[in-house]
Amino acid sequence: MPEIEVAAAAEFPPGSSKIIREGTLFVGVYNCGGELYAIEDRCSHDDGPLCEGDWDEDRCCVVCPRHGSMFELSTGQPISLPATDPVETYPVRVVDGAIVVELP
Ligand code: FES
Repeated sequence: MPEIEVAAAAEFPPGSSKIIREGTLFVGVYNCGGELYAIEDRCSHDDGPLCEGDWDEDRCCVVCPRHGSMFELSTGQPISLPATDPVETYPVRVVDGAIVVELP
């Protein structure tokens, strides 16, 4: 299981986001209110790039830029249509001051 370093934790404060890539997999990483999340950058509705649009820091949700479905960063579950299926989420942690995502 590869671990990908995202950023130094000190340089990724609340409100930060970044898209990382491992091979063909793109993952959006977020610091929402001090909690870290990683979610696949591929919408379950139409395979659009999920993490290239806006996200809602108050609700810790990402908004698909293609048709507007919102997904919870913590679970990957959609909370508005047209998407009905969840997207993958991945474990994120801080190791020796660096933010690291575990990918499959
Ligand atoms: S591609 Fe994301 S809502 Fe349609």
